[in-house]
Amino acid sequence: MSESLELIRGEEHPKAPALSKPRAFIKSYGCQMNVYDAERMGDILALEGYDLADSADAADLVLLNTCHIRERASEKVFSELGRLRTLKKARGAEGHDMLIGVAGCVAQAEGREIMRRQSAVDLVVGPQSYHRLPDLLRRARNGRVAETDFPVEDKFAELPPLSEQRIRQRGVAAFVTVQEGCDKFCTFCVVPYTRGAEFSRPVAQVVADVERLARAGVREVTLLGQNVNAYHGEDERGRTSSLALLIRRLAEIPGISRLRYTTSHPADMNDDLIAAHREVPALMPYLHLPVQSGSDRVLAAMNRKHGAAHYLEIIGKVRDARPDIALSSDFIVGFPGESDADFEATLAIIRAVDYAGAFSFKYSRRPGTPGAERQDQIDEAVKEKRLARLQGLLEEQRQAFNAASVGRIADVLIEKKGRHSGQIAGRTPYLQAIHLDGPEELIGQIVPVEIVATGPNSLAGRRVNHGSSAGECPT
Ligand code: 5AD
Ligand code: SF4
Repeated sequence: MSESLELIRGEEHPKAPALSKPRAFIKSYGCQMNVYDAERMGDILALEGYDLADSADAADLVLLNTCHIRERASEKVFSELGRLRTLKKARGAEGHDMLIGVAGCVAQAEGREIMRRQSAVDLVVGPQSYHRLPDLLRRARNGRVAETDFPVEDKFAELPPLSEQRIRQRGVAAFVTVQEGCDKFCTFCVVPYTRGAEFSRPVAQVVADVERLARAGVREVTLLGQNVNAYHGEDERGRTSSLALLIRRLAEIPGISRLRYTTSHPADMNDDLIAAHREVPALMPYLHLPVQSGSDRVLAAMNRKHGAAHYLEIIGKVRDARPDIALSSDFIVGFPGESDADFEATLAIIRAVDYAGAFSFKYSRRPGTPGAERQDQIDEAVKEKRLARLQGLLEEQRQAFNAASVGRIADVLIEKKGRHSGQIAGRTPYLQAIHLDGPEELIGQIVPVEIVATGPNSLAGRRVNHGSSAGECPT
């Protein structure tokens, strides 16, 4: 999961009078699922008559959609709340009310603490309850409210349908949550506590969402879940559908040209999903399959439910099924008890797999998780050194992967205008950002592009007339 900051932009609400509309600002931290949740919260607020603002300055409601995965992500919330408190006071002095809400995983894990530490917060809402925002906002106007229970109703069934206008504003590549929560209990991770038990949305609900996205011009859909390949949603006939079956269904929806899914767990990488990589052309040849560590000892201590050899075996099967597939992973260095030899094993697995991209982190002690209780915590300086070495190797691999793309022709989904005039930008099947000269009318189309150069964060390309050389991985 990448740490990103998402801004939800304003949209006219057809029913409300133009001048008196209250303004809401949503700031989202953390993973792609939080970005998705923030979008859905924006949809709810738009229906409640809010205009969505792009800064907190003149907002009547500020919602922080928070992330609890690592210590630094949590700390950001409290410093942001300090700033918002000052803003709220200043607005109050001018005679304007401002509501402050905290949503997301920090709200779930530390709701009470937030209410205690920060009196300016009016509303706390966990990730499973944000469909109740309209009611919570009404109550928050009369006194502070916190909603962090795991509700019995299906949040997704309660959410308003996706608005075509808002889908169009967000572009031709969209995210859809299909699975949420986790039952794996890796010993470093807060997700099973903040997002709750594993839950899969019914197939019909997902299909309806993706059809709606396709009608509004979306060409690429990334299926989201904390443990997305554990998906086991019920289909229309009451049978359990695997992620592979869901992917096959979605690939048939007219207009949907590209499918991705993230984040997967190696233990759930079963044969039917691997076969889908061979048989479903819309399934992009890029797989994020986190291994976290290359040491069997550390993997066992992390409760990952697989060893290094098993992971490599899965990668082998995936590569047999789809020889042009590229891989990415998450890594944690400095898990309690990690020795130099354990760390070397992680470097070894990185060399064995050869990744096109990765996210890597120093282990962060999370309250309430078994890892946090261990006495054999690793020194920060050691973690720093290991992370630098690991990132050096991963960066070499990423650059080599990009460099090997030069001279090849890739199918590029054009997503938006580029930074310079006359330029457009999109992504290759391998999620590489690429820019090229071309008309805006190509947005939403998949066009063959010759990759001519690599930069630090993106590729440069040139339009060509003939088909792609996809089917060959750059490395
Ligand atoms: N410390 C460091 N990294 C963590 N992750 C999850 N929990 C922690 C933690 N306590 C990382 C894992 C996971 C990614 C989303 O975040 O690598 O795959
Ligand atoms: Fe966290 Fe492990 Fe579940 Fe992923 S599989 S969300 S790392 S507990």
